[in-house]
Amino acid sequence: MREMATAHTCVFGLGWGDEGKGKVVDLLSTRFDVVVRFNGGANAGHTVWVGEEKFALHLLPTGALHADVSAVIGPGVVVDPTKLVEEIDGLAARGIDVGDRLKISDRAHLVMPYHKLEDQLAEACASVPKKIGTTARGIGPCYADKALRTSAVRFSDVLHSQDFRERITTLTKDRIRTLQARFGEDIELDCVNAADAVMAACDRLKCRICDTTEFLHSAMDDGQSVLFEAANGTLLDINHGTYPYVTSSNTGPHGIGPGAGVPSHSAERLIGVTKAYTTRVGAGPFVSELHDEIGDQIRKQGNEFGTTTGRPRRCGWFDAVATRYTAKLTGATDVAMMHLDTLANFEQVGICVGYEYAGKTSSTFHAHSDILEQSKPVIEFVPGWQDCIRKIRRFEDLPSEARNYVSRVESLVGVPVTLIGVGPERSQTIVRGALEQFVQIPEATTT
Ligand code: IMP
Repeated sequence: MREMATAHTCVFGLGWGDEGKGKVVDLLSTRFDVVVRFNGGANAGHTVWVGEEKFALHLLPTGALHADVSAVIGPGVVVDPTKLVEEIDGLAARGIDVGDRLKISDRAHLVMPYHKLEDQLAEACASVPKKIGTTARGIGPCYADKALRTSAVRFSDVLHSQDFRERITTLTKDRIRTLQARFGEDIELDCVNAADAVMAACDRLKCRICDTTEFLHSAMDDGQSVLFEAANGTLLDINHGTYPYVTSSNTGPHGIGPGAGVPSHSAERLIGVTKAYTTRVGAGPFVSELHDEIGDQIRKQGNEFGTTTGRPRRCGWFDAVATRYTAKLTGATDVAMMHLDTLANFEQVGICVGYEYAGKTSSTFHAHSDILEQSKPVIEFVPGWQDCIRKIRRFEDLPSEARNYVSRVESLVGVPVTLIGVGPERSQTIVRGALEQFVQIPEATTT
C-alpha cells in the first residue's frame, strides 16, 4: 500500500482522444496501488516517454510500466487477445515484466479476428458522409456483438466453456457467411488459423483472467488507492459525443460503474485532460479546425500523428465550447492542459469561444453532427509567446502571455488547470493548486 492515502482518481480525455492522458496517468501511477482500464480496446494509444524511450500502450493500463502497480483490464474493455500478448511481450523485451500484476476481467469481451475484418470492410464500403474513420481495431463490431449477446465471447468462456475452440470456430464461420452476404462472396478468413491464433493467445493469458470486480472491491476495502484510466475521449463517448462519429463505449468517468465494476462515484478526483489546442482523428465535426498553414504548423510542432494508426491528426485552436461541455458532463475537478509548449512561436493564439450557426452565436454543444459541421467558430485571439518553455517547472516562470492564455482557458472551461505539460518527458510538467500535494515531478533525464 502507498504511504499516504490517495483519493481514487480518474484520468480521462475532454476531447476526441489523444489528449496526452498516457503521460498524466504515468505521472500519477506511482501514487496508486492499482491502475484500471475500463473502456475501449486497442483503439486507444497512450504514449509515455521515459527518458528517451518511447512506450506506446494500446491495451495495457499505463500502470503496467511500474513494477509495484497492479494493472487491471476491467469488464468494460474489449480485448484483442493477440494484440495484448504482443504488448506484454514487447514490454518484456524492453525489460518490463508485467507478470502477475496484470489482471484481466473474466467479464471482458474478446475482439475476434472477424470483428477486425468487419470493421475494415464496413469502413471501406461506407459512403463518405457516414464513414466514421475508425481505427479498424474491431471495436464497434465487438461491442455490437456484446449488445446482441448470443454471438459474443467473454474471457470467462476461455476458462469455463468446454467447447471453446469449437464455439469460436463456429462463430467465425457464421460471421464469414454474413460478411460474404453483405460485402461479397470473395471475402475470406482462414477459420483454422484465426481460431489457432485466438487459442494460442488465450492460453498465454489464461493465468491472468480473474474476477477483477472482486479484486477491486477487496483492494479498495483494504485501503488501496485506485487510478481509473479512461481511453479515447469524452467527445467520442457513445452517448454524449459527436454521434455517429464516436467510439462504442462510455469514455469518461461515468464509464467507471459499467466498465470497472465499482461505483462511478468511487473516483473523487476527476482529472480531465486536454491539449492547449484541439485535435481529432477520423471523420466528424470539428468546429475550430484550421485548414491552413497554422493548422499545419501545430501538427508539425506537436508531432500530431496517431499513436494507433499513424494518421495525421486534424488540428485547430482550443475549443472552449466543446471542452466546457465535456468538463460539465463529467464533473471534472481538475484540468490537465498538455502540449502548452507546442503553441510557442505564434504571434497570437486563438480560442474558440462560441459557435455561429444560422446567424446566431451560441456556446452550447449541439447534439446533431450536421449542425456542428455547419457551425463557424467564433475565435478570440490573445497574444502568443516566442520563448521555448520546456525547461520551466513553475507556473510563475512562464511568459506572461502563456500564463494569461492558461487563465483565459480556465475561466472559459470553469475548472482549474492544475497540471500543464511543457514537453513530452515526465519531467516536463508544471503542477499547481490542488495537484501540487499529489504529483511529484521527476528530475529531467535528458535536458
Ligand atoms: P473506433 O473506436 O475504432 O470504432 O473509432 C471510432 C472513432 O473514434 C474514429 O474517429 C477514431 O479515429 C476515434 N478514436 C477511437 N479511439 C481513439 C483514440 O484513442 N484517440 C483518438 N481517436 C480515437
